[in-house]
Amino acid sequence: MPVFKRRIDDALSQRQTQGLTRKLNCLASANHVQFRAEDQSFINFSSNDYLGLASDKSLGKAWQHGIDLYGNGSAASPLVTGFSVAHQELESALCEWLGFERAILFSSGFSANQALLFSLLEKGDLLLQDKLNHASLMEAGMLSPATMKRFKHNDIRSLQMMLKENALVVTEGVFSMDGDLSPLRDIQATCQSKAWLMVDDAHGIGVLGSEGRGSCQHAGIKPDVLVVTFGKAFGLSGAAILCDSQVGDYLTQFARHHVYSTAIPPSQAHALAHAVGMLRTEQWRRDKLAELQNAYRAACGPLPGYVETQTPIKPFIIGDSAKSLDVAQQLKRQGHWVTAIRPPTVAKNTARLRFTLTTNHTVDDVKALGQSLTRLLEGME
Ligand SMILES: Cc1ncc(COP(=O)(O)O)c(C=O)c1O
Repeated sequence: MPVFKRRIDDALSQRQTQGLTRKLNCLASANHVQFRAEDQSFINFSSNDYLGLASDKSLGKAWQHGIDLYGNGSAASPLVTGFSVAHQELESALCEWLGFERAILFSSGFSANQALLFSLLEKGDLLLQDKLNHASLMEAGMLSPATMKRFKHNDIRSLQMMLKENALVVTEGVFSMDGDLSPLRDIQATCQSKAWLMVDDAHGIGVLGSEGRGSCQHAGIKPDVLVVTFGKAFGLSGAAILCDSQVGDYLTQFARHHVYSTAIPPSQAHALAHAVGMLRTEQWRRDKLAELQNAYRAACGPLPGYVETQTPIKPFIIGDSAKSLDVAQQLKRQGHWVTAIRPPTVAKNTARLRFTLTTNHTVDDVKALGQSLTRLLEGME
C-alpha cells in the first residue's frame, strides 16, 4: 500500500492539532473594497490591491479592448507562437518605465522567482537571502544547486559576514508580512562588484518612488535583476524579470518557466500595459494611500501591537496564533474583513493581523477599523 494516504492524514491532523489549518474562502467580488459574504457586508482589509486597480473600470475596459484586438488565450508558449505584439508592447512599457533593457514575462511572481534562481545558479555558488524573503524565493534557493544562506532580516552586518565573491544576494524591496523596507542602498553598496543583487519588488512597485517605480527608485539604486509582479498594485496577475539584454537573452534560452509555459493571454498583456500607464500618471492614488496611512496611525498608533510602516501593509502583532484568529473573527463580525497570519508564514509567537490599505478605502473605513480594534483589545484585557 503506497505511503501517501498515511502521510497526508498525519500532516493534516498535525496542522489541526496545532490550530494552523488553512481554509479557502469562496467570496464573490472581494476584489472590491466592499463586498458581501455570509449575508453580511464587509470592508476588505486583506487584499494586495494597494491602488484599487483590481476593480477599476478603465482597466477592465482595456482588458476587454485587448480581447477585441487579440482574442482569448495566447495559444502557445512564448518561443512557439505565444508571444504577440501585446506582449512586446508590455515589455517595452516596463523597460522604459523602470530603466532596464529587457523585461521577460511570466504568468506569476512565484514562477519568475523560481525561473531566475534555477537558471542562474550552479553548484558551488553562494546564494544569500534575507531571512524573511517570500516562500517562492526560499523554496527556489533550497532546491537550487547553490549553497543557500539566510542573513538576518535587513541586517547589513550579517550580510557582510556571509558575503563572498560571486554571490547572488536576494532581498524583497518591501517585506510582505511586515511592510518594512529593505535597506537597499546599503545592500547594494555591500554587494559592489563582488555580488549580484536581485530585488523582488512585488509589494513596492506602483506604491513607492516617483511614478510608482518602486523600492529601488525610492532608494536610488538599480539592482542587477528586478522582479515585479502584477498581482498587487497592477490589479491583475503575472510578473516580469527586468534585466540587461544579455541576461534577457539568457533567460529566453534557459528560464524553463518562461520557455515551457503558456504565455499570458495577449489581452492581459494589453491590460497590463494600460496599468503601467495608470501607475505612472495617477499619482493621486499614492497620495490617497498616504492620507489613509495617516488615518491608520491616528486610529491604531496608541494600541499595543501597532507597527509603524511606510507602506500600505500594516502588521498588527498579537503573538499567539489562537488569539489572533479570535481577534480576526471578532473584527469580521463587525464588518472588517481581516486576515490572521500565523506560523509557518511568520515566525513563532509573532502571529498577527495583516491589515492592508487600498486607495479605495475611505478615511472613515480606517477610523471604524481602529475603533473596533480598540474596543476589542480593551475587552480582552
Ligand atoms: C514578495 C513576493 N514575491 C513573489 C510573490 C508571488 O507572486 P505571485 O502571486 O504573482 O505568484 C509574492 C506573492 O504574494 C510575494 O509577496
